[in-house]
Amino acid sequence: MKDALVRQFSEAFGRPPQFIARAPGRIEFIGNHTDYNGGTVLGAAIDRGVSVALALRDDGVRRFGSDQRSQVVTLPADSLEKQQGPGSWVNYPLGVLAALPEFSLRAPAGFDYFATSDLPTGAGLSSSAAIELASGLVFLAATQQEPSRETLVKIGRHAENHFVGVPCGILDQGVSGFGQQDALVFIDCRGPRFDTVPLPSGAHFWIFNTHTKHALIDGLYAARHRECMEAASKLGVKLLADLTPAQLEARLSELPEVVGKRARHIVEEIARVDASVVALRQGDLAGVGQLLTASHRSSQHLFENSTPELDFLVDTLTATPHVFGARLTGGGFGGAVMALTDEHFGSAQAEQVVAAYTKKYGTAPEVLHTRTGPGATLLS
Ligand code: GLA
Repeated sequence: MKDALVRQFSEAFGRPPQFIARAPGRIEFIGNHTDYNGGTVLGAAIDRGVSVALALRDDGVRRFGSDQRSQVVTLPADSLEKQQGPGSWVNYPLGVLAALPEFSLRAPAGFDYFATSDLPTGAGLSSSAAIELASGLVFLAATQQEPSRETLVKIGRHAENHFVGVPCGILDQGVSGFGQQDALVFIDCRGPRFDTVPLPSGAHFWIFNTHTKHALIDGLYAARHRECMEAASKLGVKLLADLTPAQLEARLSELPEVVGKRARHIVEEIARVDASVVALRQGDLAGVGQLLTASHRSSQHLFENSTPELDFLVDTLTATPHVFGARLTGGGFGGAVMALTDEHFGSAQAEQVVAAYTKKYGTAPEVLHTRTGPGATLLS
């Protein structure tokens, strides 16, 4: 991976890179839309991600290349103008550069930059957080600054919220930053406070990516964000995480019906995350699986961010032997389903799920059997 990146960098820019970093994609294990509501969430960094290489220039020019696009984007070092069209992927590193001064950190001036990815896009595995964190690491290394991992994570989120323009929480960047092999990352998003929970042995992740994406996906995410904030404000709390399920239940009649459904999803989902931590610590994978599937049903019926394709996958998977549970992973409105399975679920079982889906929808979902992996790392 590192050798391939050095080769591609050298082919693009005619010299080797000075700094290389890699950051993983993530699976949202459980905790759907809880992050920006101040709740808890569990995620896993996976063994696929984004790698970034950089070499400094002293002529005030920044050049951005990627293995996903043939064209190199060239910008003056003093320009932080948001890019449109095929060059819009550069908004992720640009957003990080724009965020650095907000954390009293310096951005490098001129440089050549190249990014490669082995993450499938549109699978809800957060390639955006991975590119933000890998970019942050090389920018900081190139300017000899070493802020804490928590600051790196916050820089990534700041880039996403303020430059890219998505009102996401800290889940994606937090998991990419604090990931560990054979562990899940637990985030109490209000601190935020980051921790890890060991993954019981014999637990496997399978991702089924539908490659479907709602046309209005960004607007729908923002709309859910607004509905949650409306619920909190109508109930006189700062964030929905301030309420227990029983407290919300007693006051549901104060909310319009739809807003009440969104609030119930969030408050009950936070309780499911906390129950999952307990079950994981007890090695109770069957119990964890039930919580995962319950999370999906709540997304389906209360938060209404699922789709018929995702529901079909969850229905099929949960009726398949060796599956503990299944749920949509990530923002929803398309994307992927994650299944937690035992070691006897293999390609033959996955193929049966694919065949059933293909018969119904005419296209095959992409299947990934992923492992957990380390968090964002500076490699050289
Ligand atoms: C997206 C966002 C995250 C989180 C999830 C839903 O992945 O980027 O911050 O809100 O959706 O849980």
